[in-house]
Amino acid sequence: MGSNDLTPPPSFPLDSLPDADSPLLVLTHPTRAERVATIKHTYRNWGYALTEADYIAREEYLTTVPLARNGGITHWILTVASLPPDGRPILSSCESLRKRAVCSRDGEPPTEGVAHGIASVFTEPAYRGRGYASRMMREVGEKLRGWQAPVPPGRSLFSVLYSDIGKSFYARHGWPAFESSHVSFRPVAGAAGETEQVATAIGYHELAELCAADEKLLRADLTRRRDGKTHVAILPELDAMLWHLMREDFMTKSIFGKTPAVRGAVTGKPGQRIWAVWMRGYYGGLKRKEGNVLHVLRVVVEDPDQPDEELVGGFRSIVQIAQHEAAEWQTQDVQIWNPTPKLKGLVEKCGIESEFVVREKHSIASLRWYGDEPVSEVDWVANEKYAWC
Ligand SMILES: CC(C)(COP(=O)(O)OP(=O)(O)OC[C@H]1O[C@@H](n2cnc3c(N)ncnc32)[C@H](O)[C@@H]1OP(=O)(O)O)[C@@H](O)C(=O)NCCC(=O)NCCS
Repeated sequence: MGSNDLTPPPSFPLDSLPDADSPLLVLTHPTRAERVATIKHTYRNWGYALTEADYIAREEYLTTVPLARNGGITHWILTVASLPPDGRPILSSCESLRKRAVCSRDGEPPTEGVAHGIASVFTEPAYRGRGYASRMMREVGEKLRGWQAPVPPGRSLFSVLYSDIGKSFYARHGWPAFESSHVSFRPVAGAAGETEQVATAIGYHELAELCAADEKLLRADLTRRRDGKTHVAILPELDAMLWHLMREDFMTKSIFGKTPAVRGAVTGKPGQRIWAVWMRGYYGGLKRKEGNVLHVLRVVVEDPDQPDEELVGGFRSIVQIAQHEAAEWQTQDVQIWNPTPKLKGLVEKCGIESEFVVREKHSIASLRWYGDEPVSEVDWVANEKYAWC
């Protein structure tokens, strides 16, 4: 059986499989056929919004987009070391996505490096409860410490994941939970025309300049934080946003037969702008609106010293454009993850009904720190949706 053959891997009787702590197991990369077999398994969990064929095509497509292309994405499987590719069980699987990241302590210039986002952690039902995902996470966690790491610093800065199974499983394996909250607004058709619209829509072409400005502001922000903690962030660079937007393009093309034009909104004069970039994420598709969310990937207040009173009208207008888009594109709500205190103030003052949600089980932002200091000294700055994968 060659690796271009898409025959699924054979199934193995459970009593023939090594224990999770056996030295006979290895963390390695799947062949194409093994990867397709895994995608078919995960379809039942994550593919509801798409047909199976589109779901498989999306996963292939997502190896070719910014961040993932040029080796940015790595697929991992736990399997039996002595068995041949395409003839071995996939005991557990996941993927990692390389992202540019920075860290800074006590006002030092930021250290540049990489972080890895881990996603799609999966054990097929027959192999569950035997410790295979735990073993894989232990191995992946260590592997990513040096994976694709630039010299210096010679190691990855950190890795992140978003748990849908609560806080304890991943914390036990080295990824403690970080702040996982969001403010939610409901979709409102026509909301954008409710008051004087002072914000304007953002399309693909505006993003490059906004992301470059955001990166610069974020670096400056990190060096201003002198509280004895290590401040870390995944860079909100253009590629980080494009990964989401191109994923969104694929999903909306498949579900609606078209792609959206409005990817965010901006208001204010240069130096005092406020903007939000968003994407529509679908788990329910047209059959089930629950699970469809207009996710604000990133909110930037260019001058945080500007009084709320001057910002609030523009912010309200941005939210209204988002609410309108959320209704247009069949989502259940608009979510802004982990709003800063400044943003929370604007949410309260803008007069639009909202709900603040602290998540306990789903999308728990979790971070494993590869530096010397304890993770309790690490502050994850800009822990917003753009960092998700
Ligand atoms: C989660 C999953 C990867 C675990 O795989 P596994 O090989 O059975 O994992 P292990 O045997 O190493 O560990 C099982 C642990 O996962 C926990 N777990 C599994 N599903 C869970 C859930 N929905 N909620 C909370 N904990 C869960 C079990 O309670 C168990 O904990 P324990 O170690 O205290 O007994 C597997 O159940 C799966 O693929 N689920 C569907 C996809 C999914 O939800 N992936 C996680 C996305 S963040």
